[in-house]
Amino acid sequence: MKILVIGSGGREHALVKSFSNSPTVEKIFCIPGNAGISQLAQCENLDVKNHDEILTFIKKETIQLVFIGPEDPLVDGLSDSLRASGVLTIGPSKEAAQLEGSKIFAKEFMKRGGVTTADSVVVKTVKETLTQAENFQPPYILKADGLAAGKGVFICKTIDELREAANNLFVEKKLGRAGEKALLEKNLNGTEISYIVLTNGENYEVLPLAQDHKRLLDQNKGPNTGGMGTIAPLKIDSSLDLKIRQTIVEPTVKQLHKERLLFRGVLFIGVMVVDNQPFALEYNVRFGDPETQVILPLIENDLGLLFSNLANGHLDKIKTLNRHAYCLVNAAPGYPDTPTKGVSISINDLEARKNPALDYPNSTYILHASTALQGDALVTNGGRVLNVVSIHEIKDQARDNLYKLNTLIQIEGRQFRNDIGDYQFQRKDN
Ligand code: AMP
Ligand code: GLY
Repeated sequence: MKILVIGSGGREHALVKSFSNSPTVEKIFCIPGNAGISQLAQCENLDVKNHDEILTFIKKETIQLVFIGPEDPLVDGLSDSLRASGVLTIGPSKEAAQLEGSKIFAKEFMKRGGVTTADSVVVKTVKETLTQAENFQPPYILKADGLAAGKGVFICKTIDELREAANNLFVEKKLGRAGEKALLEKNLNGTEISYIVLTNGENYEVLPLAQDHKRLLDQNKGPNTGGMGTIAPLKIDSSLDLKIRQTIVEPTVKQLHKERLLFRGVLFIGVMVVDNQPFALEYNVRFGDPETQVILPLIENDLGLLFSNLANGHLDKIKTLNRHAYCLVNAAPGYPDTPTKGVSISINDLEARKNPALDYPNSTYILHASTALQGDALVTNGGRVLNVVSIHEIKDQARDNLYKLNTLIQIEGRQFRNDIGDYQFQRKDN
């Protein structure tokens, strides 16, 4: 089978790497890909917004399955265009992708389905926000309705901060249309879990749980980021797991079915656990980044087969490996606000740079998240630059191998955390 992966980050490199290990996958393409992905897949720099161009390429290369990595093309309806032309696709329809594309749509969907979530109101002006804030306690959570590349949630410690955030959205229009409307939501202070399931819109299969490390600095300090590292599997109490399924996942999938929303793909639910009670914070209609990097290596199924079956509407049982996975993100200087592009990257170990094929069960390797080649030189091309991934049956060994391989990387001014996995499932430090 020939597979096309859409996207260009560490998540897509992880997908391509796992597909390269699948006996049913004979060739992998990636649009647009990055410098690391190009070692395993044929990368094409096509415009993902141009659905006709993508379809022509798919027909020309006789590609049988398309896996859409990021949210933007899903919200833009790429999966509908592909399915309408008979191309097997992983990803929800444009309508179902609104679960991520609009926080208000998602909240109303949760309410209709009886999914446990934080209380909230819709606000459209600064005045309305401040009036409604009287019914909430600080910190105030203000969420822009639309897609904002991870920059749409404002956690405001005071009313003044809330006024400024509302002003940025509604007056300055800093997020454009994505910030025309927003949710003012009750603050939940607890522990976050990335609960990721595969679903065909009728049934679901839970993937190994992962925990992200959202803050830039050690001990959960510094600004929020797209994610600085992950571990999996995260072990939680079976009674908590049951609660998450019963109060969040099952009502969600039931509601998808009831509303006839076409969903053949990955549903990533951000869950906050407060005093052992889980609340859905948000839906993502795709794999997480860097969650994918630690989840895929723990799945025993042939991924080519698993996802082609899912694209056909059939959900296989997930078999998992008894291993520990760590992912460490190396970010460019200036990340998250102003990452520097074009900084030279050197990876001392030639073998590490070549990205050897996955050698299950224990392995340590580097994935590219945002890199480019300038001539022969590898340089930074965005915020999160390289991921180090380590898999081992012994947890401490996986962690040691992770940080050992990380010493082979040189990027001047790089930023990474030293405490991945050290604060497992503790209360979030606000
Ligand atoms: P979201 O995009 O909705 O997941 O929000 C981004 C991040 O903001 C989450 O990962 C949480 O860390 C934080 N967050 C979102 N909603 C809440 C909430 N109601 N209470 C506390 N923190 C929140
Ligand atoms: N790591 C969080 C996300 O992918 O949204």
